Amino acid sequence: MFTNIHTDQSLCANVRMNSMAPNPFRLAQVVLNIKTQQQVNVKKGGGVVQVKKKGGDDVKGEGKSEKNRFFNFHPNSYEPMDNIRCAVVTGANKGIGFEICRQLALEGIEIILTARNESRGVAAVDKLNSSGISNVIYHQLDIIDSKSVQNLVKFIESRFKKLDILVNNAAESGIVYVDINKFKEGGAYMQVNDDNVDNLTGLIEEPYDLGERCLNINYYGTKRVTDALIPLLQLSKSPRVVNISSAYGDLHWFHNEELKHELHDIEILTEERIDEVIQCFLRDFKVTKLRENGWPLTCSAYKVSKAALNAYTRLMARKFQNILVNAVHPGYVVTDMTSQTGILTVEEGAQGSVMAALLPDDGPSGAYFDKTKLAPFTLAERPI
Ligand SMILES: NC(=O)c1ccc[n+]([C@@H]2O[C@H](COP(=O)([O-])OP(=O)(O)OC[C@H]3O[C@@H](n4cnc5c(N)ncnc54)[C@H](OP(=O)(O)O)[C@@H]3O)[C@@H](O)[C@H]2O)c1
Repeated sequence: MFTNIHTDQSLCANVRMNSMAPNPFRLAQVVLNIKTQQQVNVKKGGGVVQVKKKGGDDVKGEGKSEKNRFFNFHPNSYEPMDNIRCAVVTGANKGIGFEICRQLALEGIEIILTARNESRGVAAVDKLNSSGISNVIYHQLDIIDSKSVQNLVKFIESRFKKLDILVNNAAESGIVYVDINKFKEGGAYMQVNDDNVDNLTGLIEEPYDLGERCLNINYYGTKRVTDALIPLLQLSKSPRVVNISSAYGDLHWFHNEELKHELHDIEILTEERIDEVIQCFLRDFKVTKLRENGWPLTCSAYKVSKAALNAYTRLMARKFQNILVNAVHPGYVVTDMTSQTGILTVEEGAQGSVMAALLPDDGPSGAYFDKTKLAPFTLAERPI
């Protein structure tokens, strides 16, 4: 087991090789798929929607590669489910989450593509399906809604009886664009730093209610989903949790040395303390005391949410020694969150998370990946 957090390119190479190797899960699944070819269920309501099978011969006979020859439904009668790896991706109707689903599905993993909005989630599954990928199902999930989380847990319990991979991707930025064109002309997120905070006035704004919601989704929502799915992850032979973080979670954005030290030192940090820190941030945010108390000044709530997520990642990794729990910064990616600015495509942005989801059993845990490279959780300066 890796314990040191350092850049290790050989690990990345190993992981790539591992994902190319003959995959027993995939082989077992192809057999299972052939058995179940004629049993397609299309069920709406109760939160789950199966992808429609187009005609009777989409699995075989169209010259598709093996990667696309998967079927999307495995009735309980076709046990053992042990041979199937399944993954939940949150906020997967678009952007990086959608692409993570696509790339993991191509690895032969059964994907539960989740989205808070059913029509957006179903449309995303349809899109994958029409590209020939059918081992994807939709389930509703709003990560800040406890009932929605419990419904997902019940669904996985009854259908898969365990969970192998959880990708916590869903997030909001907590900001509004006041003048999007000027923001883009000025360099978009490349100009977002605390030295430039005054120049950003009139381009982006952070209303308190959006900041609070950002923390509720990015930190508390992610924690809620993870806590609820831990028992099912514990039933997997190779459980993985991937928390999509951000370079904005780097502690160098904080200007309070004591707080930085506290959030970094997981020997003393607790989940309760992270909670207190967030509540303290919200109080200061409400009464505009961010500068005074050393909080990040730009994209503040988002930065606090991702710093808290990094700390939680490390606490989880320590608590659950049999689960590989890692944080991944996807890079600066062209998505709605960045208002379609960015320097990486979603295909590139998804790679680090897919790699972390497919880590071998002796891979790192409690680590941070800057895209596909292992990196320290905090640097003196880190570009977004
Ligand atoms: N893009 C970047 O440059 C960048 C950089 C660093 C980190 N990241 C991280 O990468 C991840 C994906 O971001 P993205 O760029 O792909 O953003 P995006 O295109 O805006 O997608 C965000 C997704 O999260 C969903 N979501 C938000 N709140 C949710 C909730 N309460 N329950 C369920 N789903 C919810 C959204 O659903 P709706 O469609 O319903 O709104 C959407 O599907 C995020 O964790 C983000 O912080 C992105």
